[in-house]
Amino acid sequence: MTESVRRLADVPDWGYLLAEFDTAYRYRSAGGSRLIRGHMKAVRERLSRCIAGDPPLDFPLPERKPVCAHLGRALDNGERDTMSGMVRAIDKVKDWLTWRHGYASMPRHLEKRYAYADILGPHGPVYCKELTLGLVLFAPRTTYPAHAHSGITESYICLSGATSENDAGVYVPGAMILNVPEHDHAITTSDREPALLAYAWVGAPEDLANQEMVFSRKRKPAPLTRNPE
Ligand SMILES: [Fe+2]
Repeated sequence: MTESVRRLADVPDWGYLLAEFDTAYRYRSAGGSRLIRGHMKAVRERLSRCIAGDPPLDFPLPERKPVCAHLGRALDNGERDTMSGMVRAIDKVKDWLTWRHGYASMPRHLEKRYAYADILGPHGPVYCKELTLGLVLFAPRTTYPAHAHSGITESYICLSGATSENDAGVYVPGAMILNVPEHDHAITTSDREPALLAYAWVGAPEDLANQEMVFSRKRKPAPLTRNPE
């Protein structure tokens, strides 16, 4: 007997979570930025095409990482704030999530303080070759070192907790952060509460499928040179 392929329409809770992504990228403000507005449009057009095709779902075995001990608190805080619709939808699928570290080499302090879970993308669980959506969870008082994405425009939507990026501001639920390709970005979280962010990656299929996760190398200071006089 052959097992039929499970499709998105067979798993309504996953579809409702994707509907929350669509709502966020359709109705949240771009703050007057044409660049962010264009990115939001690209995300929802790609998501709409993907959903219209009733894509297959392939769930790897659910996997937790140590930082998942903070997920309950992150969801509780998020349910009380402006992104509560998406946070409640995440709560419905949390037992199916596969949390990963992704980096071949990672600072030791991050092992207990960070993980991500894909929702949709070239590696599933919902198959889509032109868009990646997922979640990233940080413990309180975490510094996520600088990294950049080759060929990929990335946005984060803050769902729970408070986050800063490159010391440029403090982002709370409902805020969107845009990182253009090759833009170095480091993230920190507040002292007492975890942070949960949703992310979207837009890029060419080969860049989405083969993105190598590496932290940016620290630039060495320029060598001191003698004055040639
Ligand atoms: Fe990033």
